[in-house]
Amino acid sequence: MSSMLRNTTTRYGWAAIVLHWLIGLIFIGQFVLGWAMVRIASQRTSFELIQLHKSFGFLLLGLVLIRIGWRLGNASPGLPEEVGAMERRAAPSVHLALYAAQLVVPLSGWALVSVSVLEIPSMPFNLFVMPNLPLGVSEQAENFWIFSHKWLAYAAIALVVLHILAAFRHHFWLRDVVLVRMISPFVANRAGKPE
Ligand code: HEM
Ligand code: HEM
Repeated sequence: MSSMLRNTTTRYGWAAIVLHWLIGLIFIGQFVLGWAMVRIASQRTSFELIQLHKSFGFLLLGLVLIRIGWRLGNASPGLPEEVGAMERRAAPSVHLALYAAQLVVPLSGWALVSVSVLEIPSMPFNLFVMPNLPLGVSEQAENFWIFSHKWLAYAAIALVVLHILAAFRHHFWLRDVVLVRMISPFVANRAGKPE
């Protein structure tokens, strides 16, 4: 069973699968939470939700670093042979952009709390104090990073929507293994080379 943990050239392993869905869930949850928490009238609730958003943001950043390390030290399954030339070229770029988004959205959030003139410490899940990034505190810097964090998050979600539509297209239209192999390591490329 332990071999099911790692990827091969024709299928994903448990580690990549669990990290994909855990990170995906937190990422989409962070977007919804982020959007809602700055639009809530109650200052008290808004403050609590922002602390929660920061906690999950740091958790996400940690998981993403593990995921990228795992990705670099593992085989990666190629697309099934029946996938067309256009998508064969586009998919790696979208995946690379999603990896970049998973890093820069939390990092810009971290930058924003680090330069904030409110100087509220970040305490992920009340466990410890997360140090600030070494950036100068100022109102201009805060505005810049709020703007960047917000638009990076919006751009990332646009990519995620494209990504989900592509996955559904594979499953319901092309009826290939691309979605299911991201759910179970027992599903491999039909047309792939045997392991
Ligand atoms: C370490 C990680 C993160 C930290 C510290 C953080 C921090 C913050 C803070 C303090 C705000 C409030 C900005 C304001 O005062 O208007 C905010 C807003 C927001 N964040 Fe994050 N964030 C992090 C990760 C993420 C992630 C991963 C997403 C996912 C997409 C995200 C999406 C958003 C959104 C959508 C908003 C609301 C923007 C708006 O419409 O005004 N954040 N974030
Ligand atoms: C309902 C939501 C989602 C679905 C249905 C979905 C589906 C998939 C599928 C089927 C694959 C495999 C593609 C292949 O075999 O080449 C994949 C890979 C990937 N997904 Fe998602 N995904 C979702 C959410 C997300 C989110 C929110 C993110 C990041 C913010 C994300 C990032 C990635 C990345 C980076 C890969 C490439 C993995 C690799 O091979 O290294 N996904 N996704």
